[in-house]
Amino acid sequence: MNLRTNGQGGTVYTLALNPAIDRTFWVDRIDYEEANRVQQECRYPGGKGIDVSRVLTNLGLPNMAMGFVGGYTGEELERRLACEGVITDLVPISGETRTNIIVHENSTGRQILLTASGPEVSPAEMNALLAKLGALEDAGMVAMGGSLPPGAGADTYRRIIEMMKEKGIITLLDADGEALREGIKAGPDYIKPNRFELSELVGRPLPDVEDVVEAAEGIRSGGVGMVLASMAAEGMVLVGNGQRYWAVPPRVDAVNTVGVGDSAVAGFIYGLAMKKGAPESLRYGSAAGTATALKPGTARAGKEDVMAMLPRVAIRDISR
Ligand SMILES: Nc1ncnc2c1ncn2[C@@H]1O[C@H](COP(=O)(O)OP(=O)(O)OP(=O)(O)O)[C@@H](O)[C@H]1O
Ligand SMILES: [Mg+2]
Repeated sequence: MNLRTNGQGGTVYTLALNPAIDRTFWVDRIDYEEANRVQQECRYPGGKGIDVSRVLTNLGLPNMAMGFVGGYTGEELERRLACEGVITDLVPISGETRTNIIVHENSTGRQILLTASGPEVSPAEMNALLAKLGALEDAGMVAMGGSLPPGAGADTYRRIIEMMKEKGIITLLDADGEALREGIKAGPDYIKPNRFELSELVGRPLPDVEDVVEAAEGIRSGGVGMVLASMAAEGMVLVGNGQRYWAVPPRVDAVNTVGVGDSAVAGFIYGLAMKKGAPESLRYGSAAGTATALKPGTARAGKEDVMAMLPRVAIRDISR
């Protein structure tokens, strides 16, 4: 595995400051008057960094999931990750790891997502994590993202990215709102906003792909290395280094859209680690996102799913 163009290599680390157990319930129809009988349910480890690690592990890329974990739900999270073969180095906290709820309505195919804010993280707990990050010796990349837990300052990602850059570690940030706005001030190597997050960041609607590219170009000129902007069924664009590419996925019947962006991040990182180059890595990213959109609940695409999807994703050079 080698993430660097200068040949130094290194392990991929993911960072989830607010991981979760994601519980999905399937009901025929959501009824506000009567009891809703659950037809089926499942629970999977969740939270952006954790999700990226799950897909990287499926793809066979060794990686380490870092973050906070607490209480019984935290124990469940660790065990489920161990069952999936995900290697972790989590900092224990006194609070209880959160549970997110997804209710999938069979009759309409629509879903409701309830995301909990998560346990408060104390300054001592945060310092324990920062110390671990500061002591990383074999890291080639740190991919971080997701909401910040209560107690963590809005500048948390900015501080972590600054720390990692000082150590020469490549950084990827997938966050939104204030955490993203602050985080990009540190100049991460990659960010992966979706269209809505990018639109919020630049303060204007982005109806066309050209608008997305222009907004990404603006953010990049502010010091971000490359911008991967995902656009759900319309795929993903990569803007950076004079390069502009658009990955166009096939039309599919998506059954889940929760966490597909995390799969896209994992696919992209996998491509980079396999030295595929930026446009081909973009193809891996989009293919992984689309392959996961076909998985029920918050199950994640396996390697065969991603490889089968790969030739169905078109890469367009849109630099001119
Ligand atoms: N309906 C869909 N059909 C085909 N591919 C999809 C669909 N939705 C998502 N994808 C694939 O997944 C990638 C990421 O999707 P999206 O832009 O929805 O991420 P996201 O909004 O960050 O998701 P999340 O934050 O929930 O993980 C897209 O670039 C695309 O390749
Ligand atoms: Mg996302």
